[in-house]
Amino acid sequence: MASDAYQSPRGTRDLFPEELIRVRYLEETARKLARAFHYHEIRTPLFEETRLFTRSLGETSDVVDKEMFTVPPRAEGGAPYSFRPEGTASAARAYVQGGCPTSAPFQKWFYLGPMFRYERPQKGRERQFTQFGVEVFGAQNPVLDAEVVDFALRFFENLGFGPELEVRVNTMGDPNDRVRWKAQLQDFFSDSLAGRCSDCQERFDRNPFRLLDCKVEKCQNLNEGVPSLRGQLAEESTAHHEEFLATLEALGHKPQDDPSIVRGLDYYTRTVFEIHYPPLGARSALCGGGRYDGLVEEVGGASTPAVGFAIGFTATEIAMAEVGLPKPETLEPFQQELQTQVYCVAVGEEDRKPIAKLASDLRAAGVMGVDLDYRNKSVKAQLKEAAKSGALAVALLGPDERAAGYVCLRNMKTREENKIPESDFLPELLNLLKE
Ligand code: HAM
Repeated sequence: MASDAYQSPRGTRDLFPEELIRVRYLEETARKLARAFHYHEIRTPLFEETRLFTRSLGETSDVVDKEMFTVPPRAEGGAPYSFRPEGTASAARAYVQGGCPTSAPFQKWFYLGPMFRYERPQKGRERQFTQFGVEVFGAQNPVLDAEVVDFALRFFENLGFGPELEVRVNTMGDPNDRVRWKAQLQDFFSDSLAGRCSDCQERFDRNPFRLLDCKVEKCQNLNEGVPSLRGQLAEESTAHHEEFLATLEALGHKPQDDPSIVRGLDYYTRTVFEIHYPPLGARSALCGGGRYDGLVEEVGGASTPAVGFAIGFTATEIAMAEVGLPKPETLEPFQQELQTQVYCVAVGEEDRKPIAKLASDLRAAGVMGVDLDYRNKSVKAQLKEAAKSGALAVALLGPDERAAGYVCLRNMKTREENKIPESDFLPELLNLLKE
């Protein structure tokens, strides 16, 4: 390839038909489960006003601070736009803009699609990646928190995962709980601030919670003995968390209650959770989610509780490959869609238009995988092509067949060949394909 040949942008991938089979399988698994849980699909734009994300995810979150793909304003006084780095902010914006808070406050939604983050590309991390997410608006019942975790876990179970995956849960409390905790954290961190990394120093005032999940080793060591939010929780937050845990257990799950799960986005209240495949190391999260009872109000709607999750397909696919998934038979229906069913062969030049018409009629009648030669190959070469394509049947038209009103039908499995009257051809072909 010439050195100046075009390349897809760093951190993005082309997905060719064979590779798309795996993605389609994940999507179909997600859609099926959404039907079982009775969640309905929404689609929001791939880009939004930048301020929606700044406001929702938090200015000091890594996603907003370092990872947004932003398009500057095109005209004076215009707004900058950013490709969506996640789906929750857009869902909340759509919920408000669509009038849901007054017309139908309770909504169970799901979405599937690309997200964009300007991260350093590495195993499991891309600049364009796919998420399957759910967002439920309008109820604060901890049963719902447990339901969304159950939903995410069922997704992985349906893919064939067993006990390799860990579900880690925590509570971020309510805003008032966090005000008390923030003061305690700042008090604790102030002694060691000079010895911490520049990110920590910068975040100390605005968002000291982020110092908890700093990945720099010297900072992690300085976190030993840090006050826990658990000690600051109001009774309602504690009761919510306990009810959530009890419901999850009643649903048959064994979550790890892990106070170090703080998530990187600012909108969370109370329940947060992640699903990990531990062998993936620092990037082991396949899914993240939680409750965000303040977000709808933050983006201009009436106060509305909400909870959701997003599953990343990239990490899911890596984890699947490592545990020997997907099982080949699960991909068969998708592989079949790529399979040629019927190959239409023209004997002579004058048969090319009639064979194109036959192919068109078969397609119109609902026959799948109908193909023909477009490169003026000889009959012999067309038949070779038909065999190579794995077609189950060949439909052949020559001058003799046309003169007598027949089409020649060859069963490629048995090699049996019959001349079929045109009017019977479709049912005969359908019978053959059913065998
Ligand atoms: P998140 O934890 O930022 O949460 O992302 C969810 C999942 O998306 C991650 O666990 C990871 O598998 C995948 N992911 C994130 N960034 C990348 C990347 N650069 N490349 C590949 N995969 C990635 C959210 O996005 C929240 N909106 C989840 C949520 C929904 N919370 C409530 N509702």
